[in-house]
Amino acid sequence: VTIVGVIWFGGHQVGDGDVEVGTLVAFMSYLMQILMGIVMASFMTIMIPRAAVCAERISEVLATAPAIVSAPGAVTAFPVPGRVEMRDVTFVYEGADARVLAEVSFTVVPGSTTAIVGSTASGKSTVVRLLARLLEASSGQVLVGGVDVREADPEALWAQLGLVPQQPFLFAGTVASNLRLGREEATDDELWKALEVAQAKDFVSAMDGGLEATIAQGGTNVSGGQRQRLAIARALVRRPSILIFDDSFSALDVSTDARLREAMGPATAGITKIVVAQRVSTITGADQILVLDDGHLVGSGTHESLLATCPVYREIVTSQLGAKATA
Ligand SMILES: Nc1ncnc2c1ncn2[C@@H]1O[C@H](COP(=O)(O)OP(=O)(O)OP(=O)(O)O)[C@@H](O)[C@H]1O
Ligand SMILES: [Mg+2]
Repeated sequence: VTIVGVIWFGGHQVGDGDVEVGTLVAFMSYLMQILMGIVMASFMTIMIPRAAVCAERISEVLATAPAIVSAPGAVTAFPVPGRVEMRDVTFVYEGADARVLAEVSFTVVPGSTTAIVGSTASGKSTVVRLLARLLEASSGQVLVGGVDVREADPEALWAQLGLVPQQPFLFAGTVASNLRLGREEATDDELWKALEVAQAKDFVSAMDGGLEATIAQGGTNVSGGQRQRLAIARALVRRPSILIFDDSFSALDVSTDARLREAMGPATAGITKIVVAQRVSTITGADQILVLDDGHLVGSGTHESLLATCPVYREIVTSQLGAKATA
């Protein structure tokens, strides 16, 4: 409207010979600059409150103090690397009234393989989170490497553990940058070796760029099974004294699962392994099987002894392998 007005009045004045055409054009270009300035200023008045809210939210995240901190005099040396123990652990989630774990006790000796089975919501992932001190027991004691996790320095504790969570997360970056979150100074050879054991070598070499192939935030550009295998490789790169797999083989087909377990044997010799699994075939070879039922530890032992003594375990095996497997 301003420009139309200027041209209208200016045009008449030019017609009357009062004003030169050049003056009118110059006047219009100055006017445009001023109008642009006004547009920008009004834009700013919209953006500033938005930015202020964003800045507030970001600073809230940055200012959050971690709930789990290293106490003064925290233990950084673990006398029995690879040993895991729970003593009468009871756990209630904050704000919930039901006990998720009730007086669970077990011991895992260094270098052995322990499987945890149980129906959905029986508390398997909770056990895993307690071991890694992502949660703290409401009562009882959790010991890793012979040290109560509450007395251990969190960084030193996590250095002992290679954890593959139930929903593994990959960060935006490359395959290599994700694997090196396990151990920063790992060489390319070590990365390839871990990928080979995790049965991920084939698809990573087929990806554009191999180790340098891009991974989207959250790993959304690889399949669920591929994401699981990359997370397994990341835990292996770490070379921890204890490996924990929380249902990490669920998205793998049976033959990949079998090949992975075969490769894992020699590659992880001497490392304590704790495996949460749904598939009975994955766990029959374990040194010790823990059966959880609604937060209670209802059985522990080998596959054969549990078949003989634990009805819950027998039910799980029968439901998957048929009645003749338990006969
Ligand atoms: N963050 C949480 N807050 C409150 N309750 C929770 C939380 N996480 C889990 N629970 C509850 O704890 C119980 C055990 O959950 P958990 O994740 O340990 O089960 P799970 O055995 O790992 O099951 P799944 O086989 O489905 O992975 C469930 O009843 C669940 O509702
Ligand atoms: Mg779980």
